[in-house]
Amino acid sequence: MVKVALVTGAARGIGLETAKQFLASGWSVALIDWDADELAAATADLGAQAAGFVCDVSDPEAVTAMVAEVLARFGRLDALVNNAGVAEFGPIEDCDYAMWKRVMATNLDGVFLCTQAAVPALKETRGAVVNIGSISGLRASTLRVAYGTSKAAVIHMTKQQAAELGEYGIRANCVCPGPVRTKLAMAVHSPEIIAAYHDAIPLNRYGSEAEIAGVITFLCSDAASYVTGQVIAADGGFDSTGVGLPALRD
Ligand SMILES: NC(=O)c1ccc[n+]([C@@H]2O[C@H](COP(=O)([O-])OP(=O)(O)OC[C@H]3O[C@@H](n4cnc5c(N)ncnc54)[C@H](O)[C@@H]3O)[C@@H](O)[C@H]2O)c1
Repeated sequence: MVKVALVTGAARGIGLETAKQFLASGWSVALIDWDADELAAATADLGAQAAGFVCDVSDPEAVTAMVAEVLARFGRLDALVNNAGVAEFGPIEDCDYAMWKRVMATNLDGVFLCTQAAVPALKETRGAVVNIGSISGLRASTLRVAYGTSKAAVIHMTKQQAAELGEYGIRANCVCPGPVRTKLAMAVHSPEIIAAYHDAIPLNRYGSEAEIAGVITFLCSDAASYVTGQVIAADGGFDSTGVGLPALRD
């Protein structure tokens, strides 16, 4: 029996690396993205155990259809990774309602919709959900009124899911990445932000896609069979410490 993972936002970055780690562990993977060209390029050389599905995770009807297509293709679902996300940073006064709605639609509505659509299949396998939050959902910071709030909501939604879906054997956990040099991060991290992160992170560096994907795939695996409702920061120690005061460092 081959296990099946569904990973959203899988055309690049953390999602694509997560899909590759599942494949390396012998899983089949449905890669979901709204960028059809990038998804086609990403899946071209992944082999027969992988398949791409174009879908906007914030569109309820598209999500329902996408989950049905994935089940028609692979026959089962053991893990759902809600990774698709968008980042738009700006001061509160400049965050217009359209920007707020764009961020919430993908980052928050998408997690709700994909999970709801996947629950019947996950009940059959006693499967796992991993939602991707962010350190921006754990610690408030400037310019993130929409992004940070969307990720804080994802953290809480994970606990709601764990509370309600546990009786079906479905586990729900949240991974909160620190900074990773993906396209998403590089679009909003100025040189000043990059330098400031180095000052504030005990491990003193950005993380890699593989380091985030390793935590995600662990939480979907049998090794984490008694872990649910947890929020795990893969962030080089950023969330747990205050050592980052530049004046206190070498
Ligand atoms: N990179 C970081 O520093 C960082 C830090 C904390 C959290 N995160 C989170 O990790 C996740 C992955 O981010 P990444 O850095 O790999 O970003 P990325 O931009 O490289 O990849 C995100 C993917 O999601 C897709 N996507 C966006 N909106 C979508 C939608 N509505 N429907 C379907 N696909 C959609 C994009 O096309 C893209 O392929 C996001 O949820 C992000 O918020 C990233």
